[in-house]
Amino acid sequence: MRFDHRHLLGIDPLRPDEITTILDLAEHYVTFNRSRQKHANALAGLTQINMFFENSTRTQASFELAGKRLGADVMNMAMQASSIKKGETLIDTAMTLNAMHPDLLVVRHPHSGAVDLLAQKVNCAVLNAGDGRHEHPTQALLDALTIRRAKGRLHRLNIAICGDIAHSRVARSNILLLHKMENRIRLVGPPTLMPAGIEAFGTEVYHDMEEGLKDVDVVMMLRLQKERMDGGFIPSEREYYHRYGLDAAKLSHAKPDAIVMHPGPMNRGVEIDGTIADDINRSVIQDQVEMGVAVRMAAMDLLARNLRANPKDIMA
Ligand code: NCD
Repeated sequence: MRFDHRHLLGIDPLRPDEITTILDLAEHYVTFNRSRQKHANALAGLTQINMFFENSTRTQASFELAGKRLGADVMNMAMQASSIKKGETLIDTAMTLNAMHPDLLVVRHPHSGAVDLLAQKVNCAVLNAGDGRHEHPTQALLDALTIRRAKGRLHRLNIAICGDIAHSRVARSNILLLHKMENRIRLVGPPTLMPAGIEAFGTEVYHDMEEGLKDVDVVMMLRLQKERMDGGFIPSEREYYHRYGLDAAKLSHAKPDAIVMHPGPMNRGVEIDGTIADDINRSVIQDQVEMGVAVRMAAMDLLARNLRANPKDIMA
């Protein structure tokens, strides 16, 4: 197993074999998490601090559970939105925490690049739990594990990523990962919600759901990220649902065994019809949540092995 990284800041720096290493180890933790006895000691003696400067339900809960199941001492910092003052404040906070000798720092921040900056200032391993619209590596990894388990492979699949691509770190990390694993990626959504410089992504772009979903193996829906919109990107939610919301009629254009994904939190009746989201024959949304804990255990386990193998690094 090779995973030569001190931090997990994004999918961008990872090689395909390193992605496979994380997913293979996560498979082990899927079985482990389904057993009655859920205590291991891969992180025993280590301190994990979760710093979420943005709201989160599943990501924070799963990082906390992952750490506890692997024996770490886990602390959740209550980061109030009002205390975010960018630059100086973030680095000050980081230096304060650093002085307490954490081993693993899990950080979510509303500004793209903030987690990378923080990683340069501390001595511990940093995991990016989502930075602005930049990256959300553990989400892409848990999506990859979900796809690999449902489809039996993670290459040569036709995958449609639909909706608010422009504001989505989930889309960015998924595009990077699925591209590295040699899949065909289609981005489907209104022109106003496509990122600038989309041509460089190596994907196909569709503005029509029926065309975009034709014969795909995977339909990945995204939430409308209203908190990152500072203007009118869509005419109305009703109009958006009509054109881009996933319902049975639109889904019928995908392959009959196509799976439906959503990172959550979901807006039923905006980007997805509730009955599709709940259809256990099509939707793997709950599997994504389950895979999230396993993938985060695998990522922290691998980073902790590197910490233990390079103790000097910790002291540097
Ligand atoms: C995503 C996020 O925060 O980027 N959610 C998550 O981590 N499960 C997607 C979103 O907020 O829409």
